[in-house]
Amino acid sequence: MHYNHKPIFPARFMWGASSAAWQVEGAVNEDGRTPAIIDLNSQTKKPYTDNSIASDHYHHYKEDVRLMKEAGFTSYRFSIAWPRIYPDNSGVPNQLGIDFYNNLINELVSNGIEPIVTLYHYDMPVWVDKEFNGWYDRGIIDAFDQYVRTCFKEFGDRVKYWLSINEQNMQICYGKWLGVCKNEDTWFEDQWKINHIMNLCHAKAVIACHEMVDNGKIGPVPGYVPIYPSSANPEDQIAAMNAEELTEKVWNDFYAHRKYNGFIKSYWKENNIDPDIRPGDLELFEKAKIDFFALNCYRSNAAKEAKIDETAQSYELNKSGVKGNLIFPVVPGVYQLVENPYVETNDWDWEIDPVSLRYMLRYVWDHYQLPMMITENGYGAHEDIAEDGKVHDPERVEFLKTQIYQVGLAIQDGCDVIGYNPWSFTDLLSTGNGMAKRYGLVFVNTTDEDLRDLKRIPKDSYYWYSNLIKSNGQDWGE
Ligand code: BG6
Repeated sequence: MHYNHKPIFPARFMWGASSAAWQVEGAVNEDGRTPAIIDLNSQTKKPYTDNSIASDHYHHYKEDVRLMKEAGFTSYRFSIAWPRIYPDNSGVPNQLGIDFYNNLINELVSNGIEPIVTLYHYDMPVWVDKEFNGWYDRGIIDAFDQYVRTCFKEFGDRVKYWLSINEQNMQICYGKWLGVCKNEDTWFEDQWKINHIMNLCHAKAVIACHEMVDNGKIGPVPGYVPIYPSSANPEDQIAAMNAEELTEKVWNDFYAHRKYNGFIKSYWKENNIDPDIRPGDLELFEKAKIDFFALNCYRSNAAKEAKIDETAQSYELNKSGVKGNLIFPVVPGVYQLVENPYVETNDWDWEIDPVSLRYMLRYVWDHYQLPMMITENGYGAHEDIAEDGKVHDPERVEFLKTQIYQVGLAIQDGCDVIGYNPWSFTDLLSTGNGMAKRYGLVFVNTTDEDLRDLKRIPKDSYYWYSNLIKSNGQDWGE
């Protein structure tokens, strides 16, 4: 469908940007915070820097919020670090941790910026990991419930948009990379037990939010990679549907319908998998009615039939930032992913596909009829300060321009989209590439090798985005 006019964004659309505590805050040993599993995970990603200082947002939050305000932000999506709130298992929350988030939230609200808060973005406290063997033991459910209830109690008077678990599907699909998997030999079955425990935590958070926060709204944050069939061969279409189920639809159906779908139940049966569903679990799910979908989307994939006798291949992400190092997965008898000749890629071989946003929004709206907000979308690149002292990022401007335009088209198509918060506001650590892969609208002057002065320098994309959002999506620039 082609429209003869520019897309029109709704009034009160939430324009902002996004971050996560462990990637942006630093100050990992300050004010009572104890280590998180992701701190340890980030230390293993050498030669990239770890999260002990990151972008030092902990000490720069006022300046960062000022830059948001100047850009015209009406929202900011960030996460709370669980080990700042509960540094140990004493059951007593850490007042200094609570104070930090109160200060940040107050700063946002007084500047007219709506806080959108993720409860879990990979920073499980090490004490929780030790006591409950990470996500493997149901003991974590009560610890998580205690933590989220404290967040709702302390911040729920000002925070009305809550996100439960960031990219649960990606944590399962990339269990080893994100530090969730503890035993690769048994992961094929373990992942579904862990996923079930995560679902119980998600459900508890949804229920507690509705109980405790006046007008509180809460949703999940799937990591979305739309999957197209690589050809019109009907078997490729089924392969794309299989990939879609096993990487995202199983989760999205669960969140929206509050029960496991037929595809996954049959998959478990076929593969002799027992996800360890216990009495009362399904009844709990039934009560966890979400209010919206928060969607993270950076790229798309193309799928092709994989015959049963093909050799299995696991997905190997490009971790070097040198094009051509990604290895696509082959799941015999189910699907394989292949290169898509119709889209460009970035240095990490991620597809640059603006239309995937429109596709995703249409798909999710058609399936679930729930409001949607984009909570991540962005362009990762090698960058530094230019000779003129500025940071020029024309590729990011182009990326944002083309991607946001497609969000606008999806809105014209009838989708209920309530906000756009790209990744990321300032530069922050990439999950595997430290500061070498930058996403920010604002440059942070530090590198993996050299801790510089951490100065904030708005990039060209910051100014472009600012003009767009101040005009509520009308001023697209040149
Ligand atoms: C999302 C995560 O999957 O992708 C973020 O929620 C992450 O935490 C982002 O940083 C980009 O991925 P990466 O690996 O380039 O940092």
